[in-house]
Amino acid sequence: MDARLETLITAVLSSAKYRHVSPEFVRAIGARELAIRPNLKTAVKATKNALHQAGGAFQDAPIDYARALTRLRETAAGGPSSSAFRDACRVVMAAHTSTRERLLILDDFYTRLLAGLPTSGRVLDIACGLNPLARPWMPLAPDTEYVAYDIYTDQIDFLNSFFALAGYAGRAEVRDVIGCPPDEPADLALILKTLPCLEALDRQAPARLLDAVRAPWLLVSFPAQTLGGRRKGMAAHYETHFRQLLRERNWPAERFEFETELAFLVRKEDLH
Ligand SMILES: C[S@@+](CC[C@H](N)C(=O)[O-])C[C@H]1O[C@@H](n2cnc3c(N)ncnc32)[C@H](O)[C@@H]1O
Repeated sequence: MDARLETLITAVLSSAKYRHVSPEFVRAIGARELAIRPNLKTAVKATKNALHQAGGAFQDAPIDYARALTRLRETAAGGPSSSAFRDACRVVMAAHTSTRERLLILDDFYTRLLAGLPTSGRVLDIACGLNPLARPWMPLAPDTEYVAYDIYTDQIDFLNSFFALAGYAGRAEVRDVIGCPPDEPADLALILKTLPCLEALDRQAPARLLDAVRAPWLLVSFPAQTLGGRRKGMAAHYETHFRQLLRERNWPAERFEFETELAFLVRKEDLH
């Protein structure tokens, strides 16, 4: 056992901002930083920076999951399709920058993207953030199994309570999708605004993830705005890079442009 690594993990997990991050993920990042930094102190700092880029940057304040759940519970009686429940989902989604940016386009987003796809089976939501709360907007059969992954333990507990409350089949799971890409077969995988975050930590991670996912359809998207709201040809840069990955694999894709997001519906080979 590397004592320095254990000290680093304890230091990172004792900070308020990172205490809910998966310890395995902190270990993976910490081990890498210890190998390239001159000392423990700089490795702790670099690990926190990497965790900020990966997820912390999208939560501008700690999310009060207990309060969110109470709000959802108060509106759940009419079922997950009711406008009261949807309104509560919208309020909760506003707490995460990524889902907040999508609120503007939510009424169109999934109906346009998923039209014509199978509506039942299993859907993976990879590096999900609070996107599972958009489930009432997705044209999926009620019994479609929804499996969501992210690195925050408190968020994952909350999402499991959300599924139970809304009566949705499925579960949320703590998983580092860089070190451990999902291997469950599915009918559709959502990989929304996530590849750039993974690439910032590991340049090969996007390609590895896309290859590993066992679903015939991938819905992949990129932010069309920076976190600060500026446009800088960023979406064009992501698109060029992503199209290269698609070309190398010979996977056809349909492109969809939204005000805050650029999406691709990708046909992977049939894996069933
Ligand atoms: C830009 S947000 C996108 C969230 C969601 N997919 C959406 O579109 O609203 C990036 C998400 O990736 C998660 N994430 C970052 N690195 C991850 C990893 N290695 N494994 C799993 N999730 C990760 C973050 O916690 C964050 O929720």
